[in-house]
Amino acid sequence: MYENIKFEVNEGIGTVTINRPKAMNALNMDVLTELYDVFTKIESDDEVKAVILTGEGKAFVAGADIAQMHKLNPIGGRQMMMLGHKVMNLIENIEKPVIAAVNGFALGGGCELAMACDIRIASEKAKFGQPEVGLGIIPGFGGTQRLARLVGKGMAKYLIMTAEMIGADEAYRIGLCEKVAAPEELLSVAEKVARTIASKAPIAIATAKTAINNGFDMDMKSASKFEIETFTAAFSSEDKTEGMGAFLEKRAPEFKNR
Ligand code: HXC
Repeated sequence: MYENIKFEVNEGIGTVTINRPKAMNALNMDVLTELYDVFTKIESDDEVKAVILTGEGKAFVAGADIAQMHKLNPIGGRQMMMLGHKVMNLIENIEKPVIAAVNGFALGGGCELAMACDIRIASEKAKFGQPEVGLGIIPGFGGTQRLARLVGKGMAKYLIMTAEMIGADEAYRIGLCEKVAAPEELLSVAEKVARTIASKAPIAIATAKTAINNGFDMDMKSASKFEIETFTAAFSSEDKTEGMGAFLEKRAPEFKNR
């Protein structure tokens, strides 16, 4: 059992809730270790078709744990950063869709965690930001890279250098979240999106994620070639026969689990 997170599965949708509200769900080594563990299990759990990641209370995640980091020497800080990267990379690369339901503060490592997810849905109360430079450090869970890739280099530099906190509407405007929902509707909106994705062919969803993630950092020629190979994998799946057959027979498709 976990001490800092909750995990439940409801009809194919897994929900991971970071549950350290007294510390605004700050990511210490224990939380990061539990997140790594739960997403490793989710990866091989055929029951889970899509995942929602959210936070308990006022915050999504208010960053890496400052009290813990304050005590760490540079080697300890590096270890924490490496563990953080492992968690973010796992979430980003897991062959299942992961939706961040950003309920409140998503600061520092919290904003980085949201950015490692495939899709971000923000509550109208959410606040995003990278306040690290005010603490004498820089984003260290991939934020300097993922933020620039999501919102562009100039806006990433603006947010990281000013440490400005922005609301959900501004985050939506710059492409840091894909949807904004009323606070009381956040989880149901996230679940609706998760169920929509989960109703599609799982291999096609996994393949699309791989193609977008990997192709994004390639040159166009290599990325197009990569799309051809990943497309071929999807085209060879039983789900392709089922999906197209169902369309032609005017019925709903019944896709395989994986
Ligand atoms: C540890 C934290 C915390 C954090 C909040 N708390 N954020 N503890 N690490 N990141 C704790 C507070 O110390 C306090 O504990 C309790 O949570 C409630 O917080 P308050 O500040 O009293 O609440 P509020 O006034 O509502 O302000 C909320 C807030 C503020 C705006 C989110 O807490 C804040 O600015 N937090 C820090 C945000 C931040 O700088 N994040 C980036 C961290 S660096 P007590 O015991 O007093 O009740 C980072 C680097 C990643 O993420 C890469 C590392 C390798």
